[in-house]
Amino acid sequence: MSKQENSIVAWIDKRFPMTVTWKAHLSEYYAPKNFNFWYYFGSLALLVLVNQLLTGIFLTMSYKPDASMAFASVEYIMRDVDMGWLIRYMHSTGASMFFVVVYLHMFRGMMYGSYRKPRELLWLIGMAIFFVLMSLAFTGYILPWGQMSYWGAQVIVSMFGAIPVIGETLSNWILGDFMLSDAALNRFFAYHVVTLPGLIVVLVFVHIVALHQVGSNNPDGIEIKANRNPKTGIPVDGIPFHPYYTVKDIVGTVVFLIIFCAIIFFAPEMGGYFLEYNNFIPADRLKTPDHIAPVWYFTPYYSMLRAVTVNFLWIDAKLWGVILMAAGVAVFCFLPWLDRSPVKSIRYKGPYFKIALTLFVISFFVLGWLGTQTPTPLYTLLAQIFTVVYFAFFILMPWYSRIDKTKPEPTSVTK
Ligand code: HEM
Repeated sequence: MSKQENSIVAWIDKRFPMTVTWKAHLSEYYAPKNFNFWYYFGSLALLVLVNQLLTGIFLTMSYKPDASMAFASVEYIMRDVDMGWLIRYMHSTGASMFFVVVYLHMFRGMMYGSYRKPRELLWLIGMAIFFVLMSLAFTGYILPWGQMSYWGAQVIVSMFGAIPVIGETLSNWILGDFMLSDAALNRFFAYHVVTLPGLIVVLVFVHIVALHQVGSNNPDGIEIKANRNPKTGIPVDGIPFHPYYTVKDIVGTVVFLIIFCAIIFFAPEMGGYFLEYNNFIPADRLKTPDHIAPVWYFTPYYSMLRAVTVNFLWIDAKLWGVILMAAGVAVFCFLPWLDRSPVKSIRYKGPYFKIALTLFVISFFVLGWLGTQTPTPLYTLLAQIFTVVYFAFFILMPWYSRIDKTKPEPTSVTK
């Protein structure tokens, strides 16, 4: 640094902890040296978050949250606003890519036991982000006021109506009306552009603070802080986050952006998976579409909702569906306490865990696909079977993780 630059930094440092923060969180923050492919997705989630916030601001400049104008205002953005089509496709593709990245980020955590002690709170904060992300996607999807926006929201809000006693009052309260209308569109717009993005930004900040308190896990699932150089106190298996991982993350960012641009320019609708065809038809409350399905990232849970077909105990089938669907998401919160294995990483876990995780992934994909299809008796049966497989992964975990044959963990990271 030149003398002049030095004096500017010194001036700022006296008034704001800039260098101290830079060192503590970047240049002298020691991360395990064996991060692999799966460690790209945290920084990519940050990248997509920034993309959503920026493109969202520009969309808001031309969008009209009014039931009689919303659909037309989106068409106006697509056809007349300079680069409007690009901004909209960056935002709609960004929404799907957010889920791709976050699902892979969570899967990494499941493979390497990143939810285990001392990262339980970090995991729970991640789950809070996931809930907010789902609400963000749901409220955002209503805004274009197409047929799928309208009927998709109708299905979700009617779920609250299944709650005994208070259900109907609750759904009217959520909608601000007796049906989905302008009042609901206005409030969902407020949540989508102000409340939920604000909340997610705060939660992501807290997520990183919690991560830096405990330090990153790694593919070997061992604590690098336990093995320090006696002279320097620096973890033997650690390297400074900057420049090593900032450079590594640039590689991931470039590859991600190539894929992202390819989708935006060549397949923004992704065959109806990222933008559903029915949503190019304006909302019509007198015409229910033949087939209502949410966007792909919700379909595994939508399958669970539809899997229950019989009343059981004193609860009717619809309410069971709602309970299962909510449980399907919430059950991830319990992972830190369900896993009783003596080791964290899949590398040292035994065959039971590997089989269970593989079956879980298969069930997630099958349920996801079934959720996009019109239900038939066979599909409903498959949804029931795979819902059981999905939950078995979690419910049986305390048992199979304890009796599984594990390998001893190394004392230092491998590769
Ligand atoms: C907007 C969404 C999110 C952002 C921006 C984000 C960001 C990050 C970043 C930058 C890291 C450090 C780099 C890395 O380990 O990949 C990280 C680590 C982590 N995140 Fe997230 N995250 C998000 C959502 C989630 C969710 C939904 C969960 C789980 C429910 C989660 C759980 C974790 C865990 C357990 C770690 C530590 C992993 C390890 O050290 O092995 N995160 N996150």
